[in-house]
Order: sequence, then structure tokens, then C-alpha cells
Amino acid sequence: MRLRMDLKSQINLEKVPRHIAIIMDGNGRWAKQHGKPRVFGHRNGVKAVRETTEAAAELGIQHLTLYAFSTENWNRPKLEVNALMTLLVETIQAEVNTLNKNDIRLTAIGDIAKLPERSYRALQDGMEKTRNNKRMNLILALNYSAKWEILNAARELAAKVEAGQLKPADIDEKKFINALSTKGIPDPELLIRTSGENRISNFLLWQIAYAELYFTPTLWPDFQKEHLYQAIIDYQHRERRFGKISEQLV
Ligand code: FPP
Repeated sequence: MRLRMDLKSQINLEKVPRHIAIIMDGNGRWAKQHGKPRVFGHRNGVKAVRETTEAAAELGIQHLTLYAFSTENWNRPKLEVNALMTLLVETIQAEVNTLNKNDIRLTAIGDIAKLPERSYRALQDGMEKTRNNKRMNLILALNYSAKWEILNAARELAAKVEAGQLKPADIDEKKFINALSTKGIPDPELLIRTSGENRISNFLLWQIAYAELYFTPTLWPDFQKEHLYQAIIDYQHRERRFGKISEQLV
């Protein structure tokens, strides 16, 4: 574990991102490499979720968003969709005590009302039981897509205009942000995607306007604490300019 200690000590704890978002990818390929069915990859993906959540909380990250199920994932074989939904229920039920012990709050973004009934209930139960926790907010993106979210926000604002509560000219960034499912959550400063795919795949399109993107070939089930440390170290070596020039930065 020397390597892990060394990497961790390179992190400036004063400058860790407030919010890290992760596209957990590569479970299927990992399973294939091990000659096992895809579901085996997802089961091992849960271990990486546990490991990453623990590492993020230890570093003082305030928000960790994990892309667990996209609106497009319904198109996968029924068996796999069912297995993912069951895994969600099992994982939440198994982890809720650990979340409470570690003062971690479970929340969700996405069209969660359309999840199967028992997944929805397990999720609600997990969110309810952890709602007073303060150390870190673990946000599961479930039945989520950024286009769905942006359309939803547009509809919500349009309904207010129709009801005479809002003028189109008054729609500014703040009002739009407050109509997104991430309302109240700061934008992620760091977005990680595993498995060597260099895409965003309909994830947090509005919120990542200024995020630093970190792509790693590591498949999600292999992702461990030191992989997170490495991503944060990389992030901390970048210069975030927000449209300014280097000399203007303090
Ligand atoms: C991507 O790998 C992974 C998913 C679509 C699901 C992620 C789910 C988990 C890690 C388990 C459940 C999580 C929680 C929080 C309970 P892929 O299947 O797209 O892999 P591939 O691209 O190699 O086929």
C-alpha cells in the first residue's frame, strides 16, 4: 500500500474539487476479460463504487455523482436491465448503515419515478434514512440523461411563463440552474470517465461547462482509491482559466 500512501500525500487537501462526477464505464468488458457474464462486471462495479465513495469522503469531497443508469440503458437486454435494478436495491439496502456511520447522504438525479417500483422504494428509503448526513452527498444518476434534464427545465420555465409567473426575458442562468435536477449542487470541477472512452454520453451537459475532463483506460471494476487520487492530482496540476489569460489569475 506504499503506492497508495505516496499518491495520497501528493494531494493538496485545501484544493480538492467540491464536486466530482464519474461515468463508470467498462463493467461489461471487464467481465468479458474474466470470461464471465456482464452481470459479474456490474457486481464488481459495486465494489469500485464502495471504494471510490470511501476515498472521496476521506478527502473531504462534498459531492460525488455517479452515472449508474442512463435513460438509454433501458435498451440493453432485459436480463441485464433487471440485474442492474436488482443490484441497485441490494446495494442500497446493504450499504445504508455504512452510509450512516460515515455521515454520507444518498440522493439521486434523474427520472427516478420511472424506475421499477422496488428500486424506487429502496432508493427513497435509502435517501430518507440518510437525509440528515452532512459529510458528503453521494448522488446517483439514475434513469438520467442531460437532454432529458434540460428539456425538463425548459418545460418547467415555459409553464411558469404560461401561468404569467415569469417573463421570458427574465430567464437567466440562475433561474435555469434552479430548474435542473442538480439545483443547489455546485457544478463538478472534475469529470472522470473510465474504460478509455472519450465521450460525455449525455451526462451533466449544462453542469460540466467548465469541468476538467479526465479519461482513464482503467475499467470501472478495477478503479480503486489510488485511481481517484491520480485523477485529483492531475486536476490539481491544471490551470483553470475560465476564459481569462494566465496573468489574470491570482
Ligand atoms: C457501465 O459499464 C456501467 C453501467 C451502465 C452500470 C453501472 C452500475 C454499477 C457500477 C453497479 C450499480 C451501481 C450502484 C450505485 C448500485 P458497461 O456495462 O457499459 O460496460 P461496457 O462498456 O464494457 O459494456
